[in-house]
Amino acid sequence: MKNPNLKLATCLLFVLVTSSLFAQNKNVPQLGSSPVKEVVKAMTLEEKVSMVVGTGMNFPGLSPDMQGPVVGQTENKVPGSAGTTIAISRLGIPSIVLADGPAGLRIAPYRGKDSSVSYFCTAFPIATLLASSWDVDLVKKVGSAMGNEVKEYGVDILLAPALNNHRNPLGGRNFEYYSEDPLINGKMTAAMVNGVQSQGVGTSIKHFAANNHEWNRNTINVIVGQRPLREIYLRGFQLALKESKPWTVMSSYNKINGTYTSERHDLLTTVLRDEWGFKGFVMTDWFGGSDAVAQMKAGNDLLMPGTAKQQKAILEAVQNHTLDEKVLDQNVERLLTIVLQTPSFKKYKYSNKPDLRGNAQIARMAAAEGMVLLKNEGAVLPLPHAAKVAVFGNATYDMVTGGTGSGDVNEAYTVSLIDGLKEAGLSPDESLSMPYHTYISEQKAKRPKTRNFFLLPPPIEEYNVPADIIAKMAEATDVAMVTIGRNSGEFADRKLENDYYLSAIEKELLKNISDAFHAKGKKVVVLLNVGGVIEVASWRDGVDAILLTWQPGQEAGNAIADIVSGKVTPSGKLATTFPMDYKDVSSAQNFPGKTLEGPDPNNRSFFINDKAAEVVYEEGIYTGYRYYNTFNVKPAYEFGYGLSYTDFKYGDLQLSAPDQKGQFNATVTVTDNGKLPGKEVVQLYITAPSKSLDKPAAELKAFAKTALLKPGQSQKLTFTIRADDLASFHPNASAWIAEAGNYKVAIGASSKDIKQTASLALSKDVVVEKVHKVLEPEKPINELKTASK
Ligand code: BGC
Repeated sequence: MKNPNLKLATCLLFVLVTSSLFAQNKNVPQLGSSPVKEVVKAMTLEEKVSMVVGTGMNFPGLSPDMQGPVVGQTENKVPGSAGTTIAISRLGIPSIVLADGPAGLRIAPYRGKDSSVSYFCTAFPIATLLASSWDVDLVKKVGSAMGNEVKEYGVDILLAPALNNHRNPLGGRNFEYYSEDPLINGKMTAAMVNGVQSQGVGTSIKHFAANNHEWNRNTINVIVGQRPLREIYLRGFQLALKESKPWTVMSSYNKINGTYTSERHDLLTTVLRDEWGFKGFVMTDWFGGSDAVAQMKAGNDLLMPGTAKQQKAILEAVQNHTLDEKVLDQNVERLLTIVLQTPSFKKYKYSNKPDLRGNAQIARMAAAEGMVLLKNEGAVLPLPHAAKVAVFGNATYDMVTGGTGSGDVNEAYTVSLIDGLKEAGLSPDESLSMPYHTYISEQKAKRPKTRNFFLLPPPIEEYNVPADIIAKMAEATDVAMVTIGRNSGEFADRKLENDYYLSAIEKELLKNISDAFHAKGKKVVVLLNVGGVIEVASWRDGVDAILLTWQPGQEAGNAIADIVSGKVTPSGKLATTFPMDYKDVSSAQNFPGKTLEGPDPNNRSFFINDKAAEVVYEEGIYTGYRYYNTFNVKPAYEFGYGLSYTDFKYGDLQLSAPDQKGQFNATVTVTDNGKLPGKEVVQLYITAPSKSLDKPAAELKAFAKTALLKPGQSQKLTFTIRADDLASFHPNASAWIAEAGNYKVAIGASSKDIKQTASLALSKDVVVEKVHKVLEPEKPINELKTASK
């Protein structure tokens, strides 16, 4: 055995197994019947070390440094899961199973060579779509459906939800995340956590924190000021913890202001636990960080997936007194406290038969609720019953249900657009099916192999349907539907050319279709089957309707058909802005960052050749609509925007007087003033006085979705606003302060479409929360300020 780490790991395993055997008859504390502290006290140092390091992940080509400590003991408990912890049977400690991810449970669909039994999971819509529903009850329902699959497939903790901010449209994993706004991130996360955990399984909210890019993700140093960190990048996590109790938090890959997040005591202990009261355990992202001992000290209790090298480092550090064993005891205690709650500990007899049918219905309903109608000129949608639809676009025939990497799901099927339309009583013309399918499979076969199996292959070019065929279709059908598809995932950010911007062929195809159909007096509907924001301003005038379907999960075709047929009135609104152009994005100059000179000490060449890199968040707090609205940069479709098939009228906004603590209520009545039943997303924005601090033009502070209102029906909505919602983070005082002065409260159908305003005054400053002065950048950052407008 050449690898000394593996040798040590084998010894540890031997110690564990033998101690288990010899201890059988002794009266040793047992997890569950003895207090956790007693169990920890009864553990040997080797057992403790083995507990805080996962059992490893092993696949061909993995360097010795990255190999797991105890291969085979537990890694196949649920094939395809992301990792397990060790079992120590003499103390009654079971191994627990952790599996991805945000859009549904990710496990292997088949086991070994046996294809007679399958283990499919439901591919739910991506997080960005769920956030566009602005419906926390719905998200909770989706969470509880996901939790059912987690539990019935024998998994203990779902590695989700993910809530990093959409800082830039090119973020490769934006689809896994909710929004550009921390309030939405926090509310959606809490709803998802409460839903999943209602099933008796756990969650891991991730990636904590400021993991806003994939480029050089294992090495990148995010240089960010305290205020944007507190107000934007940490805030979603903080808000989520006010309304839910996730069992675990996953630290991120990146560094913040020079130190890996997984090695930052100030982040994982001072902020997360001391300030916010988090009670679960923290795990690393897979192979994240570089110093196992520093991670233990920081309060990063579990190292995943776990390597023999990490075990060796921790063991030696305790032995040579550079790591206090008490720190390790605390890490283990936190882990065991959660293990106690798991189905594995409770010996739950999982069925391997979750309610896939019922969950598919939830996936379909959620997908339709989060689609956003961006344009609908001449009320082209909903389509008349039995309308003949010409369907174009590679993605029509090869829908993108969700993104790739750990956020992918192994689903049993995808409902195609054509099947969905037919099922809804529309008449899609199927004559292009064969040419499209042939083209797509030929092009896919020609793609170069990716360097690693988990990398997304390059997209294939759009099939350029010949002009004479388009002309025939324009003659034979009533309306054209063109799907534009995009995919992305772990390890890479998106590109500008042929991704953020449409490709030359896509633009040509859209123009040819529009010309041909418009010449016949027929309309063109575009479906955006995308996981993130794309450019729309240059081509949208040429088409009649645009439905942002996002990546809607396995029920894609049915959910799209629900909207285009009018069975469901669209009610989704953007939780992330569509700018006019990429150059308008406030982080455009600072994304993804720059590489640094010299070798990177943490390079993991097997995965990706990460170089030493850094990015400076110079835009400060001005990200997303906070930037566009404050600096008067016109977006293509603003934050909060989305059309309906019906209309809504807003009554007067009434505010109660703020009480001693600065808390007040805002009430508004919304009426369906149109001809169809529909739901409205109502948004409450606040403009705060900027006495001693720069403030954004307005910030979202509350939102609600009405019930399905019939024409003429009204609903009264009441929002409770607390001083906490009025406060900004004052770095000099290290405090959240609601400044004295006038606050403008605006109720809108979007961040731009303000329906009612009112104002109130706070007579004196309210210091909402005093916090620690931590996480500071090494040097001051030249952040964007309104003075530079
Ligand atoms: C991802 C995590 C995921 C983990 C386990 C990592 O590459 O960043 O989000 O949970 O893998 O699959």
